[in-house]
Amino acid sequence: MSEILLELDNVHVNFPARTNWRGKVTERVHALNGLDLQIARGETLGIVGESGCGKSTLAQLLMGMIKPASGACHRAYNPNSWLGSGMQMVFQDPLSSLDPRLPVWRIITEPVWIQKHNSEAQRRELAQSLALLTGIRPEYLDRLPHAFSGGQRQRIAIARALSAQPDIIVLDEPTSALDISVQAQILNLLVKLQRERQLTYVLISHNVSVVRHMSDRVAVMYLGQIVELGATEQVLTQPRHPYTRLLLDSVPRVDRSLEEEIADNKGELPGNRRLPQGCFFHDRCPLAVEGCRQPQSLRMDASGAGVRCWRAGVISPPAP
Ligand SMILES: Nc1ncnc2c1ncn2[C@@H]1O[C@H](COP(=O)(O)OP(=O)(O)OP(=O)(O)O)[C@@H](O)[C@H]1O
Ligand SMILES: [Mg+2]
Repeated sequence: MSEILLELDNVHVNFPARTNWRGKVTERVHALNGLDLQIARGETLGIVGESGCGKSTLAQLLMGMIKPASGACHRAYNPNSWLGSGMQMVFQDPLSSLDPRLPVWRIITEPVWIQKHNSEAQRRELAQSLALLTGIRPEYLDRLPHAFSGGQRQRIAIARALSAQPDIIVLDEPTSALDISVQAQILNLLVKLQRERQLTYVLISHNVSVVRHMSDRVAVMYLGQIVELGATEQVLTQPRHPYTRLLLDSVPRVDRSLEEEIADNKGELPGNRRLPQGCFFHDRCPLAVEGCRQPQSLRMDASGAGVRCWRAGVISPPAP
């Protein structure tokens, strides 16, 4: 792997779920439960997993918006820098992530407002160049967000992210709110920008075909852990973790989300208020045996691929 930009080491994040009459927290949601991850410069890392497995929590953690309860999470070259610096995020729903009262040129340059030396003229100039770069018509920059279509609004969100000159952009379901035809345009724009600006992407998506198209590597999450990690083609065509197989089992249909597939076929995701003992997946795993009651760690091989299952090398590969 090329230069490591960011490292997470055994990260745990939880949220209060219930308090008693004295305000004391009596129950917690365990959103991330020992997450290990390295992100390399210039790559696109796809993150997949069912709803509630902790993808957006991971995104917020990377952005420095929430703090881990334990574990380390830092920039590889500067462990003391604030994690969110150099990072920007693009959300699923462009309308709710853009301030409806501001003209688009101001939205786009919002991340640089705090830099006081930016005059209005400078900010307008920046907005113009970012508009050209992202395919927004510069003559529309004085309009409000609601005057734009969904795809155009997502371009605005991307231009806004770029204005801060990030090296990493976290994309949380960037195209799932868009029409199919528009999705491809936005994905192509992201690919173009990545090439031109040497960007690193963390791409969260339910859509396996989006992840396959975009990602160099894929991380599969289950109950706040990474259960499998590796080169995209490898993971998607030769999944080693039983959960990844289950996830991909019925995926040939591009128009369905992972969640729908799972909900139809394999029952509900177990609660993250009380975590399972041992391997988190053993309750649902069709291949579980007695030894799966032991906690599992993500075992990495020399190629950088990893799987959190002690039987991954033993159980037979999936039928082609
Ligand atoms: N601020 C919060 N307070 C309490 N619980 C939270 C909070 N944020 C997330 N959670 C819980 O943490 C778990 C992980 O949520 P998260 O939003 O990270 O899942 P996700 O993988 O992004 O799901 P989706 O695919 O539906 O977006 C869920 O059980 C969720 O309810
Ligand atoms: Mg989410």
